[in-house]
Order: sequence, then structure tokens, then C-alpha cells
Amino acid sequence: MSVDKPATRSRKVLLIDDDASLRRVTEYSLQSAGFHVLSAVDGKEGLASFMTEFPQVVITDIQMPGMSGYEVLQQIKAERPETVVIVITAFSSVEKAVEAMKQGAYDYLAKPFSRDELVLMVDKAFNLLGLQEENRRLRDELEHQVDFDHMVGISDVMQDVFDVVRRVAPTEASVLITGESGTGKELIARAIHQGGSRSKEPFIAINCAAIPANLLESELFGHMRGAFTGAVRDRAGKFEQADGGTLFLDEVGEMPLELQPKLLRVLQEMEVEPLGGKPRSVNVRIIAATNQDVESALEEGRFREDLYYRLNVIPIELPALRKRVEDIPLLVRHFLERYSAGNPVDISETALESMATYSWPGNVRELQNAVERMVILNHGESLGQHHLPEKLRSTASSSKKTIVNLPPEGYPLEAIEKEVVVQSLERNDWNQTRAAAFLQVPRHTLIYRMEKYDIRKP
Ligand SMILES: Nc1ncnc2c1ncn2[C@@H]1O[C@H](COP(=O)(O)OP(=O)(O)OP(=O)(O)O)[C@@H](O)[C@H]1O
Ligand SMILES: [Mg+2]
Repeated sequence: MSVDKPATRSRKVLLIDDDASLRRVTEYSLQSAGFHVLSAVDGKEGLASFMTEFPQVVITDIQMPGMSGYEVLQQIKAERPETVVIVITAFSSVEKAVEAMKQGAYDYLAKPFSRDELVLMVDKAFNLLGLQEENRRLRDELEHQVDFDHMVGISDVMQDVFDVVRRVAPTEASVLITGESGTGKELIARAIHQGGSRSKEPFIAINCAAIPANLLESELFGHMRGAFTGAVRDRAGKFEQADGGTLFLDEVGEMPLELQPKLLRVLQEMEVEPLGGKPRSVNVRIIAATNQDVESALEEGRFREDLYYRLNVIPIELPALRKRVEDIPLLVRHFLERYSAGNPVDISETALESMATYSWPGNVRELQNAVERMVILNHGESLGQHHLPEKLRSTASSSKKTIVNLPPEGYPLEAIEKEVVVQSLERNDWNQTRAAAFLQVPRHTLIYRMEKYDIRKP
């Protein structure tokens, strides 16, 4: 995640000294070296100025009437520990300087000091601050970077998805990911977890569709020994395993209706009650996924609306692979690299084209498997059309001569034309210029067809 660099702040130095002539000389030396100097005659005035201006560096005399330099140092460190404080001491009192450094001062200047000594030290202080800030920024970036190393996508739709992921990862919001099987829902869920503050805590996934309904409750919430036949020992549920981290409720659309109110209660109260045990509180972030059409599950009463709204704070919809054809060549190369570790396998343009025209009902997973198979079966050889799985080859060869497979009983030409226009628009996110270019016709021709067939963006 790229963090905007703050505009270079002016380099502010606060000088606190009761000796007017020393103040004047020091102020002048620092100003002429390019620092922005604030000055104060005593500790009280100095702290007041500190609290309004927040200079990065403070130079304070130790021995002053009223508040001592130590006190100034302590208060500044308590307020803003990152501030660099330099103390001024009399030549003869090095032990005072040592004491100040024990209390957190960065360095000391012994009177009388030269202009060079002064400027050099303040310069060093700012360099240190710059490094500290850079470190902090890098650390932040590392900790909260969403890991897209394993995810590729250049299509606008996927870039939009990545944007949402980046924005939502650092929050605690529940996310509901929808998309056909194999579109990358779990990968997105992991990226969100990785990019948030819980990244060092567990990411626990549970597939609600893969577990028999009667076991799902104890899987989720746990059970105590003897709670039911077969419960031979206490067992923590997925919620407890995920405590502090993220729980990924995969295929949440398959959650049995009778379990849904219980899940909702847990989500609202963040408290689980293991079967046969006492309630205990948990702290988990919820990411859910489903490849079902949730809307119709809601309409048909298979999914509770209240639970749906609790899960669906941030929706992320993963488009089917056929809706982001631009990503296909990239994904092919990505998986080729992964599976042909060491000696990358090449692939011909025509083979790539065939892959891009195939409809991939199994989405990225299907493509990944196809590439893996091809690499395994053709050790090291460059991949061409004849290496493609059968079903892809047929689209490839048919795409040479016949693009449309007509049913034997015949088909109206206008319906075909309309279909072609709609598909081209969908493929190009309803951008008319791009859809027209795709069909290799002028834009007004496309618009004419859209009017003729009453085609409108849904
Ligand atoms: N954008 C992508 N870049 C690279 N690999 C991807 C991408 N999307 C998916 N994959 C890979 O495809 C496979 C399927 O992804 P994932 O398991 O996340 O899909 P899913 O939507 O959860 O599928 P299902 O609904 O079948 O559970 C994984 O091996 C994953 O690494
Ligand atoms: Mg999955």
C-alpha cells in the first residue's frame, strides 16, 4: 500500500536559554544554516512554545532560573518521546550533561561552543529523525502491506477489487466475498487478513458446506467432553481458534438455517458457548464467502436477512474469469512460472489466444490446473496449440472457421447480432468506444445497433 510521503516539514528548532546574548548568537547561527528557530527565555515559555509548534529538535540550557533544563527535558519526552533534545551545559559540568543524557537527552553542547559544532550537531539530530521516520514508515508499510504477490490481475475489475481490499484490510469491517467457484475468494480473504493489524494472529477457515449440519455447530463453537456421544474430550471451536485473528466462513450460503440465528448472536455479542460449556468471549474478524446467488437464497428464505446484513458490511464481488479476459495471458504466465520452476516454459501466441477465448467455467482454478497439467506432460518443451486440453483446442480450431455454433433448427440473424453487441459491451464494461473497437466498427455503428435492439446498460 503506498503511503503518501508527508510534505517536507520545515526543520524547526526550539532554543531555550535565559542568556540573551548566547540566545542571539545561537539563533543567528541556526537561522543562517537554514533552520527555523523559535526561542524562549525560560522553561515555562519554552514548553508553551513546544506545545503549539512541536519543533522536532529542542536545545535547552540546564541551569536556568525557575524551571530547570531537566524538567523541560522530562516534560517534552513525556509529551513527544521522539523529540530530540540537546542540552547546553557549562564547560565544567560534564556530569550534568551525563545526567541529562540518562534522562533521554540526545547530546550536549558545552559552553562555549562554536557555530560549526552547533550546526553539525543539529544537522545530525535531523538526520537521525529522518532515519527514524523512514524506518517507521517502512515498518508500517511492511506490516500492513496487502500481499498481492500471489495474485495477478490487470483488468479494471480486478484492480477495483484490489483497491477495495487495500482500503478494507486495515479496518475491522466484516467482508462478504461473492463469486463463482475458483475465482479467488479465499485468496482475497487471506490478502485482507494479511493486510490488517491481525496479520500475526491466526487465519482460520471453515467450509460450511463441507461439514455435516449436525457437526457444524460444534466445529464452530466447540464442545466440552461428554456434550454428545463421541465428544471424548474438550474441543475449541473455530471461533476460539481464530481468537485475535480472522475467521473465514467459506460457503456461508450453505449454513443450515437452524444454525444461522446462533451464528448471528455470536457475531453480535462476540461470545461463544461451546456445547455443554459456559459462554466465553472471543475477538475475531469475520470474512465470509459464497458462490451462491445470495439474493435468491434470501428471497427463498434459505438465508436469514439479519445475518446477511451483519456479514455483508463490505461486499466484494469477484468477476468470473471470462469477464476479465485481459487477465488470462497474465495468469497463464504466472502459473507457467510457478510450475516450471527453474526453467520457464514458453507458450505460443496462438495457444494463449485459444486460452483467452475459452469460457473457463471453473475460473482461475481450472486455468491453474490446465497449466499445471500442460507443464507436467510436456517437460521443458515450449507449449503450442497441440498441447492444450481437448476442450480448449476445439474452441481454438472452431474459432478459425466458425465462431458461432448454430443449432440445427436455425436461428434468427438479428438475435445473433444483438447477442454479439451485448457481449462486446459486457466484455468492455459498457464502454462504447472500446466495444466498437472490439467489433471493428465505427462507434456510431455500434450506437445504431444498440438503439435498434434497445440495448441498454443494466
Ligand atoms: N488472481 C489470481 N492470481 C493468481 N492465482 C489466483 C488468482 N485467483 C485465484 N487464484 C488461484 O486459483 C485457485 C482458486 O482460488 P481460491 O481457492 O481462492 O478460489 P475460490 O473462489 O475460493 O474457489 P471455491 O469457490 O472453489 O472455493 C487457487 O489456487 C488460487 O491460488
Ligand atoms: Mg474457496
